[in-house]
Amino acid sequence: MEQLYPKYGLPFTGEPLSPVQVFGRTAPLVLEIGSGMGETTAAIAEAHAEADFIAVEVHGPGIGSLLNRIASKDLRNLRVVRHDAVEVLERMIPDASLAAIHLFFPDPWPKKRHHKRRLVQPQFAALAARKLAPSGVLHAATDWPDYADHIRHVFSEHENFREVEGGFALRPATKFEARGRRLGHPIRDLYFRLEKTLQ
Ligand SMILES: C[S@@+](CC[C@H](N)C(=O)[O-])C[C@H]1O[C@@H](n2cnc3c(N)ncnc32)[C@H](O)[C@@H]1O
Repeated sequence: MEQLYPKYGLPFTGEPLSPVQVFGRTAPLVLEIGSGMGETTAAIAEAHAEADFIAVEVHGPGIGSLLNRIASKDLRNLRVVRHDAVEVLERMIPDASLAAIHLFFPDPWPKKRHHKRRLVQPQFAALAARKLAPSGVLHAATDWPDYADHIRHVFSEHENFREVEGGFALRPATKFEARGRRLGHPIRDLYFRLEKTLQ
């Protein structure tokens, strides 16, 4: 963390960042929420050298693991932010700037009384609609069927999202996907495209 965050991390500033300044070029920009240990994040960034990626995570060991992957693969198109992803999305990501948002295996909060803690809520869909560029896609994956139904419901209620068949990148298996499979959970990938045009 001490050695690699200054090189591959971005400080949380609360101010909109300039993707051109961060990556030194203009390219499609993808934000990942909750990158965990970063295995999927790094694999997608490596497979999509034409795009730039920002991974947001709060878990220190996960950030450390992703920083090591970035260094060992010498990835120039991936940066990490250690902070709450909703705040990063709200305050650091310019409006209408994202080609995609990746949300892979968000914390499921399976108990009914905890459902309100789930990240995907109507206000999250509204925030995603503000930050995605026209035709940008939110790609969510989960192994909890009722969370998948909830995500589909929330995005279908938003007038500017349409469910589609695929997203920005193919998703390699994640650690939490393997865990879900071991438990016999079905894995669902859901894609919602922003249909709005720029005003
Ligand atoms: C179940 S894990 C999935 C990790 C990874 N996407 C995967 O599939 O292996 C959910 C991750 O989201 C992170 N997380 C939860 N809420 C977050 C938030 N508000 N901002 C950033 N990260 C968050 C957690 O720290 C955790 O690493």
